Amino acid sequence: MRQIRDEVLGLKSSPLYDERVANKVFPVIGEGNHDAAIMFIGEAPGKNEAKTGKPFCGMSGRVLDELLASVGIRRGDVYITNIVKDRPPFNRDPLPDEIGVYAPFLDRQIEIIQPKILATLGRFSMAYIMKKFGLESELKPISEMHGRVFIGNANFGKIKIVPLYHPAVAIYNRNTKSVLMKDFEILKNN
Ligand code: URA
Repeated sequence: MRQIRDEVLGLKSSPLYDERVANKVFPVIGEGNHDAAIMFIGEAPGKNEAKTGKPFCGMSGRVLDELLASVGIRRGDVYITNIVKDRPPFNRDPLPDEIGVYAPFLDRQIEIIQPKILATLGRFSMAYIMKKFGLESELKPISEMHGRVFIGNANFGKIKIVPLYHPAVAIYNRNTKSVLMKDFEILKNN
């Protein structure tokens, strides 16, 4: 993980590197238990995350903390990261090129942690992970995928993939929050 951190810190080839330097912010590598059974994969750091270098520490993070607490999972027991490690300007959606640059680091993080469950937060990490584990043909809009369990073949064994809505969607939408709460139950029972 330290090696990954150092490589991302020096990643001048990233289209988001100049932005990072200009804004004097940090990449977000990931945080949590390196032996975690559950690994969460978000989209990209937001403003607070880039300021602190920590994933999900702003408004979305508060929702994620609440969701974890609602099913009795401790944040320190899981590992939390993003597909894109630097903040896209104005929090816009990550571009395919950006995903291409950072995904190999995510791949290596998955290899290190070897989680039982990969919980994707939002459609970008969902699409990437489903494709990575040979489940591209099952890809549908997130409204039809969330809260279901897909089985992928990792080189360290079977892995459960659970697509979830991004917590940011629940900040202003109570309905999505209750859907997320229900979907999080799956993480507890697996
Ligand atoms: N949204 C994300 O996808 N990741 C974060 O770390 C914060 C907000």
